[in-house]
Amino acid sequence: MGLVPVWRIRTGDVAASPVPPPALETKLAPGFAASPAPPPALVTKIAARVATIPDADARERAIRAMGWAELKRAVPDCSACALHRTRTQTVFGIGDENADWMLVGEAPGAEEDRLGEPFVGQAGRLLDNMLAAIRLKRGENVYIANVLKCRPPANRNPEPDEVARCSPHLVRQIELIRPKLIVAMGRFAAQALLNSNASIASMRGRVHRYQGVPTIVTYHPAYLLRSLPDKSKAWADLLFAVRTLRELKQV
Ligand code: URA
Repeated sequence: MGLVPVWRIRTGDVAASPVPPPALETKLAPGFAASPAPPPALVTKIAARVATIPDADARERAIRAMGWAELKRAVPDCSACALHRTRTQTVFGIGDENADWMLVGEAPGAEEDRLGEPFVGQAGRLLDNMLAAIRLKRGENVYIANVLKCRPPANRNPEPDEVARCSPHLVRQIELIRPKLIVAMGRFAAQALLNSNASIASMRGRVHRYQGVPTIVTYHPAYLLRSLPDKSKAWADLLFAVRTLRELKQV
């Protein structure tokens, strides 16, 4: 779907709204197998949380009116969810603010919380290597950010409430960067951006749209560290992303 970010959807809309068929979304790229989509309820839960946040619309409007400087001041000051009590610092995002590529992960881990930069731990080293393999480099035509700007304690999964409250920051980052391609890494980034309860496996191999921006889904680098056989699938995803961007630039 991806026309309305998940945090703008109200409870009830999720089940009710038909999925419009974006032009590029229906085609599975060669080499990718179709797979069934078991529906966990993350998107539904996030939508339910948004409905209970009294100032959600006004806050989102305020954040979406910000330029880079204001946004960079607002994120470290944010106390919209309980994570501000346990974080060492916020992790805003890093890279080329005019990048073609935007990579979106889940949330900072311990190293990111300590250093204030996304993907600097073990998963980050794998990500840097994967980028290098397609001749990309952190900071050069690439911007990296997370759905959450604060570390969930003990690296637990983000809570729907935290995603609902933090997401306007990511929305604004994407609006300011206007990337040509988004790579959503892992279930949280993919489901939140694409407003979908689908599994990663079923979202791979297609060009989705987030607010009109072509978006490709792949596994999270931390998952790949635990599941070596899926590294080759992530490699296929990256090559698919390279091909997609090349084709988009030719249009
Ligand atoms: N995992 C993420 O999703 N983001 C980071 O910044 C680090 C690990």
